[in-house]
Amino acid sequence: MSHGFKIDKHQFKNNIVLAPMAGITDAPYRNIHLKHGVGYAVSEMVLANNQFLAQGKSAEHLQIQEIKDNNLGVPRGIQILGHTPEDMASLTKIIVKQNLAEVIDINMGCPAKKVVKKAAGSALMADVPLVKEILKSVIEAAGDVPVTLKMRTGVDKQNKNALDIALMAQDLGIKAITIHGRTREDLFRGQAEYETIARVKEALEIPVIANGDIDSVEKYLYVSDITKADAYMIGRASQGNPWLIAKLASISERSKYIEPDIFEKFSLASDHILDIANYYPEQIGVKIARKHFIWYLENIFPSIYTAKSYNNLESERIQTPISLNSSQINLVEDLLVRPVIGEEHILQDSKLVEHIQQWRSQFIQLVSYRELEDFLSDCLATLK
Ligand SMILES: Cc1cc2nc3c(=O)[nH]c(=O)nc-3n(C[C@H](O)[C@H](O)[C@H](O)COP(=O)(O)O)c2cc1C
Repeated sequence: MSHGFKIDKHQFKNNIVLAPMAGITDAPYRNIHLKHGVGYAVSEMVLANNQFLAQGKSAEHLQIQEIKDNNLGVPRGIQILGHTPEDMASLTKIIVKQNLAEVIDINMGCPAKKVVKKAAGSALMADVPLVKEILKSVIEAAGDVPVTLKMRTGVDKQNKNALDIALMAQDLGIKAITIHGRTREDLFRGQAEYETIARVKEALEIPVIANGDIDSVEKYLYVSDITKADAYMIGRASQGNPWLIAKLASISERSKYIEPDIFEKFSLASDHILDIANYYPEQIGVKIARKHFIWYLENIFPSIYTAKSYNNLESERIQTPISLNSSQINLVEDLLVRPVIGEEHILQDSKLVEHIQQWRSQFIQLVSYRELEDFLSDCLATLK
């Protein structure tokens, strides 16, 4: 496992990548993860649609303005989605002209129905000649800005054409490829498989980023053993859990990681929640903050708030036990230090547990930024 990884001329400090997730990985989300360890983060997908572009709605409507806020010294990745080479090239030119990103990522992995209907996202994988045209036109429009590709293992289990597309993409000038270990037909069902990713990695010279169901340190080490990928992309398991990413990042960097205690974790969650509420217009921001707050509760107090089932996306939580070899166990034991005050301390105080149990229902009733701020500071005072 390497420490960092490169996309063309851009060097990243470790090999952990935050997945693009529409409606989730907005600027506050990416920033909190970039500040707490993740090596690289890709924006939510931006729709390439000539109608919007012609109306000059590119900046606001396509959410690309927010990318400007995300400059923490880490190269910015913006993801684009579309179904014609012309639209994709037009959007690419806007991004390049306005200097909005250092890397442009093409989405060929999204299985969402409204996307697939237009033969964009993972549906494109069934139309290889169209893929070729799109890749060519985006690469040409991007000029010096490196273009990467995110895809699935194929259309369905009988048509796993990731390797063919990856080889073609590399020949055309794509600089890195992310593969989610499911087919388009799988949606988010079942478990991701990593053998296809391993085959692609073995055949390619450009970096390969492995993705799908990496939700623990053990899973990360397991996937890296199988795929030998250059980097690892984490999506759903990052929700309400920047500490998982931080742990993976420190393993990647071979640096020590002391897990924060309950109070420190809640403070970080609180900062993120206030960032979200502040970032959007008040009424919208307060609503968006709700799902994040609930994810944080589930991760900070797993015994009090039973763990989520991955956002209702039909995925099964990965239960397969993974056994690490002795050098992996040594690595984990050397680098990761458990918190001094974990959830078990809270559980000894039944009054406090009762308090915390009410936070979820109390939070979703808050309607203003001010209420939210007061509520969070009361929670912190209770925990202290
Ligand atoms: C709510 C949600 C939104 C997503 N949006 C995007 C997107 O905009 N672009 C994309 O390429 N993939 C998108 N994905 C897929 C993720 O980037 C990732 O490939 C997938 O969730 C598998 O990784 P995970 O098991 O670590 O979550 C989305 C996934 C989720 C759950």
